[in-house]
Amino acid sequence: MAYSEKVIEHYENPRNVGAFPKDDPTVGTGMVGAPACGDVMKLQIKVNAQGIIEDARFKTYGCGSAIASSSLVTEWVKGKSLDDALQIRNTQIAEELALPPVKIHCSILAEDAIKAAVKDYQSRIAGAAEVGHERV
Ligand code: FES
Ligand code: FES
Repeated sequence: MAYSEKVIEHYENPRNVGAFPKDDPTVGTGMVGAPACGDVMKLQIKVNAQGIIEDARFKTYGCGSAIASSSLVTEWVKGKSLDDALQIRNTQIAEELALPPVKIHCSILAEDAIKAAVKDYQSRIAGAAEVGHERV
């Protein structure tokens, strides 16, 4: 199948590939898999004291569309609040990358990954508050 130019561009120059240390309390990690094809996406956000996502990383074992979707999303979340990051919809990703119908699930993977990362971060904060730890 033919990939759109934007998919190819992100695929050839993926932004923010890599990982943050998992034990960093300012990091939220989302790991999701696509049942349709078995591809796996790991997306991490780094959140500052103001609750703004200041950086993001991803590692995706999957097709070009999944890699492009995660690359795009790591760019989109930077500078966003957690709430705003949760507003990102797979349809926006699919539209930006001009994904064909069979590749829509790749963009859903990216939406799910960012949601999972935010949730992970929020549960860490809640956990830290419970045991009375101060966050820096
Ligand atoms: Fe082949 Fe996703 S189905 S990489
Ligand atoms: Fe399954 Fe792209 S994530 S084909």
